[in-house]
Amino acid sequence: MEQQIWAISIADKIKKKYPKIVERNRGKVPYTAIDGVFDDQGRHNIGWWTNGFYAGMLWQLYHVCGCEVYREEAQALEHKLDAVLMDPYAMDHDSGFRFLLTAVADFRLTGNEEAKKRGLLAAENLAGRFNPQGNFIRAWNDNGSGEKAGWAIIDCMMNLPLLYWAFEVTKDPRFYHVAVRHADTVKKHFVREDGSVRHIVEFDPKSGSFVQDFGGQGYEKGSSWTRGQAWALYGFALSYLHTRDGSYLDTAEKIADYFMANIPENGLIPVDFCQPKTCALEDSTAGAIAASGLLLLSQILSGKKELPGKHRNPLANVMEKESEAAKTAAEKLLKTLAKNRCSWGAERDELLEKGTAAFHDETHEFPIIYGDYFFIEAVFRLTGEEIFLW
Ligand code: GLY
Repeated sequence: MEQQIWAISIADKIKKKYPKIVERNRGKVPYTAIDGVFDDQGRHNIGWWTNGFYAGMLWQLYHVCGCEVYREEAQALEHKLDAVLMDPYAMDHDSGFRFLLTAVADFRLTGNEEAKKRGLLAAENLAGRFNPQGNFIRAWNDNGSGEKAGWAIIDCMMNLPLLYWAFEVTKDPRFYHVAVRHADTVKKHFVREDGSVRHIVEFDPKSGSFVQDFGGQGYEKGSSWTRGQAWALYGFALSYLHTRDGSYLDTAEKIADYFMANIPENGLIPVDFCQPKTCALEDSTAGAIAASGLLLLSQILSGKKELPGKHRNPLANVMEKESEAAKTAAEKLLKTLAKNRCSWGAERDELLEKGTAAFHDETHEFPIIYGDYFFIEAVFRLTGEEIFLW
């Protein structure tokens, strides 16, 4: 009860923060905020992988508040992403982030058929990145050198729901096959014995065999980049939700156990769980993503999360203890962020401070839009006001 009252009070603060912010930032596609003012990736970087998250926030707010300005701005952003759909060099494994939170969200909320077409085009493109030899979805492009033709990354687990959605609306099982084969490859080659995950794995793109792994955006090879751990626990929970394959649920739980065991006492998430003890670098976005993923996992384990048309989880309601542990950890992460890392006033555009894109970048600890998205999603998930976009 006490937790629910807390969640409702935070949801109220979110609802109060955004009306003025959205009005004064009309037409923008934000990635970060500089001195409290959103930047605009729409001007020079429309292909950037994070460009769907602001629209995702707007759709969540539209669903909860019904204000037309949120819908208008989300649809304006969706139209800007048409330039990305037309550019094979801009399209990559992150199509789920770009198009589930824009076009597919629009279709889900308004029934807009044009938006549905955009979502299906994006899904076709994502499925087209599948390498049937290694059973993985290729991550980034490389301007034709072939250098990255065999690279797959953990983040892609979050993009598979675009394929599950395309299967649901077209009944074409190609989309499903690609998604589960990629998930199976990740389960085998990314998830370590202790429940931590690798960021990047390189396969031989011709034979499909494992070549090597990289530390990627984390501290070093063999380390545990926290946002990658969060993508993985959330992504496997989503694959379970869409397929009912119990091995995905087991994998999500294993990664979640590792994540929960490594949450520092103060609840603030480092950039990498293996970074030197003397380094205090933080990534608030990892905390927000993990919180939202843990809440979903908790709902699945307690039998409270079902997708329409899916068979009920036969294990539901027998895992109350695990469900409670995931919820408690998620609440700790969210409370820590709400108290220490959120700008609640409408005078600053960003919500979360201290996001970090990559450990070895020159710049760290700045506002990043996906941190805001996942924090808002998680709070609305707690209050039951969320529109489920995955
Ligand atoms: N998907 C890239 C990242 O999490 O930074």
